[in-house]
Amino acid sequence: AEDDPSPAGKVARARIESDYALAFPSLSHPASHPPAFQRPSQLLTFSYSPSRVLQFDDSALRYFVNPPHGADLNHGYENWTRRPEERGRIDGLLSAWSRFKNSLNGQNPEIGLISWRGVITKILTAPYEERDVWELNVMCIDGTMYFEEHLSDEKLKEKSDLEPRHRLQSYYGYSFESYCTSSTPNKHELHVSSSSSGSSGTVGWGGDVDTNVQWCSVVKTKLGDTRIIIGGEVDCVRGKYAGNTDNFVELKTSLSIRGPQDEAKFEKKLLKFYFQSFLLGVPEIFVGFRKPSGYLTTTQVFQTVHIPRLVRGKPGAWDPNVCLAWGDRFLSFLRNTIKGSSRSNVWRIKFTSKTGVSATLLDDVGVRDVEGGEDRVGFLPRWYWEEMSG
Ligand code: A3P
Ligand code: MG
Ligand code: MG
Repeated sequence: AEDDPSPAGKVARARIESDYALAFPSLSHPASHPPAFQRPSQLLTFSYSPSRVLQFDDSALRYFVNPPHGADLNHGYENWTRRPEERGRIDGLLSAWSRFKNSLNGQNPEIGLISWRGVITKILTAPYEERDVWELNVMCIDGTMYFEEHLSDEKLKEKSDLEPRHRLQSYYGYSFESYCTSSTPNKHELHVSSSSSGSSGTVGWGGDVDTNVQWCSVVKTKLGDTRIIIGGEVDCVRGKYAGNTDNFVELKTSLSIRGPQDEAKFEKKLLKFYFQSFLLGVPEIFVGFRKPSGYLTTTQVFQTVHIPRLVRGKPGAWDPNVCLAWGDRFLSFLRNTIKGSSRSNVWRIKFTSKTGVSATLLDDVGVRDVEGGEDRVGFLPRWYWEEMSG
């Protein structure tokens, strides 16, 4: 590979300026001093419209309703408006953060990290990840780190060209969201009237799926000594929305559990369900169990805070303190690694399952690749970068 004449080979070599490594923790010992995690408090919310315009309102907020028994999650598949797969850019979250900061009248809170919730979930659960290899882009301005998941062209293509079977399975999750939500707060907790049954008249259907539309919450929290701003999608609220996270509900689907093996698999999945909700302060996870064919069998409510003790001592067990301690260590490692580099530098972090992470400083070729021909400095939109540098 050393004298690989292909452009790809050159790019790969040119990127490697320095390489550090941090190993995952042992999973057989409890974390001795887990860092504190502060209860998330909400700063603001925003919506993405059907045309994917970011609006500072709650137009995309949905209200929980019970789904009908035996609902068919295949319903409406051909009417799905599917948001194109794209790089997980941080732009929307930065718009929200910038707006919030401008409302503070000159106060300048010291923030250690700004990231979408999905990225932080992946980082915290990495010690238990058995297969996935994935990468992160990191920038740092005045002590605030910014994370975005790095998707290679190949991975992006993989995600857009899902096999039909996988695409349908992915639709089941969105279909469940439709059955479980309504655009108005509902006195009866189930869609019944024909007016709430969507154009097709299917009982309980909350309307055709448009994955462009999302309602997002931005919260402030703290892991150890690091203040963190996190943004994430919220599926719905139970009852009325009171401007806080207290009645947020995360909706999930999973295959029905038919034996001990299925159960262990589900317990492993609960690790991701748990951190996804925990990080944004979502107290309730409503799970719909389904047959492989997409018909709902049962539903179950999980209180987020109770999940760790449900899995303790079980075959699929995991310890959230291992994840928090790891996350804290990972953030210190990054801060130390990045220290002294410039505000336009981009670092590439690679997560290798069962091993750990490495950090590499990208060279100009690598940075241009991250910018992708858009008006950016590294992966940050130029307007934001200039706001921070002004
Ligand atoms: P399920 O979680 O019920 O499978 P979320 O649960 O985070 O609100 O996401 C909503 C749905 O998006 C998921 O529902 C799933 O169908 C789909 N989805 C999320 N992440 C996905 C991924 N990495 N690959 C495929 N589908 C995904
Ligand atoms: Mg969601
Ligand atoms: Mg969900």
